[in-house]
Amino acid sequence: PKVIYVGSDGQGHAVDAVIGESVMAAAVKNGVPGIVGECGGNASCATCHVWVRAEFVPLVGEPNDMEEDLLDLAVSERRDGSRLSCQVPVTAELDGLTVDVPPEQP
Ligand code: FES
Repeated sequence: PKVIYVGSDGQGHAVDAVIGESVMAAAVKNGVPGIVGECGGNASCATCHVWVRAEFVPLVGEPNDMEEDLLDLAVSERRDGSRLSCQVPVTAELDGLTVDVPPEQP
């Protein structure tokens, strides 16, 4: 499935993600700027914060409890589609998933 990461400069990076990996892992593997994934996907660093585009929020779902706390620590503003991308597994239905990458990560 394709995942598209749009930077704060408006530039999009389309990545061929593998089902089962996280949206964070797919970005890091492909060198998408602005997604750091410092903690390696353990939901403890918030450097993988993304804003899921509204049309994908119903498919991606809401943040889990651990994520909730961390999102409050993220540097960039929290919005409706805020998720830690390491907590979002890539699935076939998410093909075309588009997320905005915040300008700053912790
Ligand atoms: Fe650290 Fe997602 S990679 S919270």
